[in-house]
Amino acid sequence: MSDLSDNIPVNIGLLGLGVVGGGVAAALLEQPEDISAQTGRPVNLKKVLVRDAARPRDVQLPDGLITTNPEDILADPDISLVVEVIGGESPAAQYLQDALKAGKHVVTANKEVMAKRGPELLSLAQRHNVNLLYEASVGGGIPIIGCLVKELAANRFRSVRSIINGTTNYILTRMANDHTGFALALSEAQEQGYAEADPTNDIEGYDAVYKLSILAGLAFHRRVPPESIHREGITRLQPQDFRYAHELGYAIKSLAIATMEEGGIQARVYPALVPQDNMLAKVDGVYNAVEVEGSLCGRVLIHGRGAGRGPTTSAVVGDLIEIARNLGAGSTPLPSITPEDAGGIRSIDDLECQYFLRLNIADRPGVLAQIARILGEQNISIASVLQKDANPEAQTAEIVITTHPARELWVQKALELAANLEVVQEINSLLRIED
Ligand SMILES: NC(=O)c1ccc[n+]([C@@H]2O[C@H](COP(=O)([O-])OP(=O)(O)OC[C@H]3O[C@@H](n4cnc5c(N)ncnc54)[C@H](OP(=O)(O)O)[C@@H]3O)[C@@H](O)[C@H]2O)c1
Repeated sequence: MSDLSDNIPVNIGLLGLGVVGGGVAAALLEQPEDISAQTGRPVNLKKVLVRDAARPRDVQLPDGLITTNPEDILADPDISLVVEVIGGESPAAQYLQDALKAGKHVVTANKEVMAKRGPELLSLAQRHNVNLLYEASVGGGIPIIGCLVKELAANRFRSVRSIINGTTNYILTRMANDHTGFALALSEAQEQGYAEADPTNDIEGYDAVYKLSILAGLAFHRRVPPESIHREGITRLQPQDFRYAHELGYAIKSLAIATMEEGGIQARVYPALVPQDNMLAKVDGVYNAVEVEGSLCGRVLIHGRGAGRGPTTSAVVGDLIEIARNLGAGSTPLPSITPEDAGGIRSIDDLECQYFLRLNIADRPGVLAQIARILGEQNISIASVLQKDANPEAQTAEIVITTHPARELWVQKALELAANLEVVQEINSLLRIED
């Protein structure tokens, strides 16, 4: 642990001055007294790394602060705390490693790096007697990481269920409330600044996978690598799915879920049906929510803004204050969990839940019986059937089947067989029902 005596300022090196970096720089420059009052020592922004020094900024920095050379921060012995808000794996991961090896404390908002390389970096921090905090990497302004590491540490967790991507939640809320198609809802999200020009990371679920990997690691103390998490995006959802789900008493949300099942972890990101009276069903727009179920605390749900300059700055500066408060003679490592490589990640094939299936079929007698027979042969029992939207010209109709709990592998097998029936035109949706 860096041994700074009590009134020596904490010099900070900031890597990145974009949406989050701009907020952090503004907080440090505009309210230094508020921050120092909390840390008990002056906090001083010493250098800021950017890619393009000539780019106009929306934060006014004193002369001489900006650099394009990472060594001005990583090799400066006077900088004891590095804040990384560049994003992406490279070069951010290398900068984090270099900072930790140089004995600097680190705060990062980088979910990709923490999901892919978190355990390695946390061990490195431990070896070099410094702290690595990353509250902003999941849920923006929601203090979920601190809760799992500290306030809820007495629990064994059974599950983490969350809405942790504001972009997809905004799109799904628009599709549900205004019967908007996916493409229109996405372009509106882009106009509002909620979705990036290339929205792949959000709408295909990669962003949520990184965040779930971090949360599951903290909840279960085991490494849950991003590639072990089943992932489905939201691009195939259609307005009918929302209409029929609503009739059946459900909302559709993109959920990131990790559950501990008989010694194995089941982790998945996908759009799913949630009962309308469930708290997660009521999380709308760009809001995020994380619900954990612990052995002692029961269910705890944290809800708030999951992204944006203000909420993310709140989490980053909160970490920075925690580290700065703890500096000085006699400081001890801050609480931290390093997930272990223990294996035991279960395949999606083993999932058991209820299903919502939407199929386009020939509109004639006996078709439903053929589908029911295929489902029955795979041990899948039907809970309800709705026949919808008959198209007299094409002589087709849409049916929606919900099932009782069934195993994913058998459901996939049944749909494969059903797709080969001459009377099945198309299998439009397979969605899980998460009660
Ligand atoms: N935005 C949010 O709401 C939010 C929420 C939670 C977490 N986060 C996380 O916070 C991090 C930053 O996100 P952001 O939205 O602030 O990103 P951003 O607006 O794109 O800003 C990135 C900053 O990093 C600098 N940069 C990028 N590559 C660099 C390189 N190779 N060398 C030096 N500087 C480099 C850029 O410099 P130039 O300005 O010169 O291009 C820019 O200032 C990411 O890990 C993100 O996942 C963001």
